[in-house]
Amino acid sequence: MLTTTTKPRGTSDYFYQLDPSLDLLINFAKNLSRLNGYYEIVTPIFEHKELFVRSVGSTSDIVEKEMYEFVDKNNRPLVLRPEMTASVCRCIIENNLLMKMALPIKTFYIGPMFRYERPQSGRSRQFYQFGVECIGSNSYFDIVEIVIFALSFLQIFHYNEYVLKINNICGCETRKKWITALKKYFSKYKEKLSIDSQKRLDKNPLRILDDKIDGEKDFVKKAPKITNFATKDEIDYFKKITDIFDQQKIKYVIDDTLVRGLDYYCNFVFEIESTSSLLKGQPTLIGGGQYNTLLKKLGSESTNCVGFAIGLDRLIVALTNNEIFKKQKEMYLNVDVVIAPLESKFDSYALSISNCLKQNAISSLTKFGTNKLEKHFKYAQKQKAKFVIIFGEKEIKENVVLIKDQKTRQQEKIELKNIVSYLYNKLGWKK
Ligand code: HAM
Repeated sequence: MLTTTTKPRGTSDYFYQLDPSLDLLINFAKNLSRLNGYYEIVTPIFEHKELFVRSVGSTSDIVEKEMYEFVDKNNRPLVLRPEMTASVCRCIIENNLLMKMALPIKTFYIGPMFRYERPQSGRSRQFYQFGVECIGSNSYFDIVEIVIFALSFLQIFHYNEYVLKINNICGCETRKKWITALKKYFSKYKEKLSIDSQKRLDKNPLRILDDKIDGEKDFVKKAPKITNFATKDEIDYFKKITDIFDQQKIKYVIDDTLVRGLDYYCNFVFEIESTSSLLKGQPTLIGGGQYNTLLKKLGSESTNCVGFAIGLDRLIVALTNNEIFKKQKEMYLNVDVVIAPLESKFDSYALSISNCLKQNAISSLTKFGTNKLEKHFKYAQKQKAKFVIIFGEKEIKENVVLIKDQKTRQQEKIELKNIVSYLYNKLGWKK
């Protein structure tokens, strides 16, 4: 394989002029964040390995098998970030933000994450996540609001091929009791478990529950449930959240096998799964939940937190046939004006008009070096220009240009000094 002209397996090139999907989703995500009062956080692409071992968990699949690890020239163990919740918490602690900011801190991020997984449709080794974190929240409503935020990402596309799954995975003490019971229960079925699950049995039996193959086995489905060990407070807490869902008419399914693959979660967790056949193997579009002990584990004070992340590459696959998304993509390439000098000797004149338009916020493109009007029009069509400004010797002498409306096909002669006001009027803008 030619490694100079082929990208690494499980990565993608995004060339927005040909496919603006990722850019569009990033813009939607930023607009939604603004509406919800979330501000962007940018952290390094690589972090100390220990951060993820401590937070995501040493027995999680991410830490055990999927991290891109390396040592720098000073032999420090580093990793390309596999997710960003841990980075956000690290940043909050390092910059003392719990003291400096009003709580809850609401922050969002967009960027590439790295996991060494087997690539397939909707699963890559470098993938883009949009995630939000609400840090220092003391209300159930913050949790419900976060879920509504996650759902709104699908609702803007009128995408309804999904199911919202939720679960109560309780606090640490209850989980400890549950894990002991699961170990005892699964050891009776040890030989029926896959080699991977047998290894998990001792270290992290929760992972057996969400294993793609073992998770479907009858005895796994009948394994002890956390609700058998939950305290009254934990049950009431979860009920309060589902009551708000009911009041807000949000449809959900309680899935008691939903444990999430990262160790920092507690109490309320959720996933939004696509039901479309486009994402058969990888249906989870959005995953999140509470992580009330993570900041403490990393050395700060105990702080209630909740968040979610959405896989943008996976969402792009899910939206393949979505009409709203298709329309947005069509509208993406849309320059206001293409300038068409009849001969290349007028290129300098074209450049002056173009500069004047851009100074007035009108986007303009010129295909320099051509003497053929036909070429200018082809170019205008490709760039989806709304108007073409044409001129030759005669127009320059008369201080005018011809402006053709690409939609109506009508052409008008406009005085040079009136081009901007004419276009503003046509574009429906105010001067
Ligand atoms: P996660 O479930 O590991 O959670 O990932 C969230 C989403 O990222 C998934 O639902 C999926 O859409 C996308 N994703 C994950 N792995 C891949 C992959 N290999 N290829 C393509 N997309 C992928 C987290 O990362 C948590 N940090 C979410 C969170 C934020 N929880 C609280 N706050």
